[in-house]
Amino acid sequence: MTQLFTKALKIANKAYAPYSKFSVGAALQTEDGTIFTGCNVENRSFGATNCAERTAVYKAVSEGYTKFVAIAIATPNADYPVAPCGICRQVLSEFADEKMKIRFGCNENNFIETTLGQLYPFDSLHELSNR
Ligand code: THU
Repeated sequence: MTQLFTKALKIANKAYAPYSKFSVGAALQTEDGTIFTGCNVENRSFGATNCAERTAVYKAVSEGYTKFVAIAIATPNADYPVAPCGICRQVLSEFADEKMKIRFGCNENNFIETTLGQLYPFDSLHELSNR
């Protein structure tokens, strides 16, 4: 998770965040160990903004990877660990089970490590999924 977090911190530098000035980076690990990174991409029509976590997920899915085991999220502009938003939790739950490891932090020394099951309990509607 430490290595994954380092990659998340690095990709946060690529954030396109002219409106919030809040950079976020994510590094996502697939079940075979491949890592995809992503940053937040904002838009002047604010609702079109994409979070770093979903950028990483959509990059991975578009390359044929649909099973994820861990994600690290870095929010270097914050002075406390910022947890993934509700939309990102739902999107992660499409491609990961409750054991998925999640580390979110603002630097290497100030982070929280948890699981998707902890962050997103009472997940539902898996009978609609193909997985
Ligand atoms: N953001 C993320 O990229 N991930 C999160 O988990 C929280 C929020 C982004 C969206 C927006 O560009 C900025 O941070 C402020 O909300």
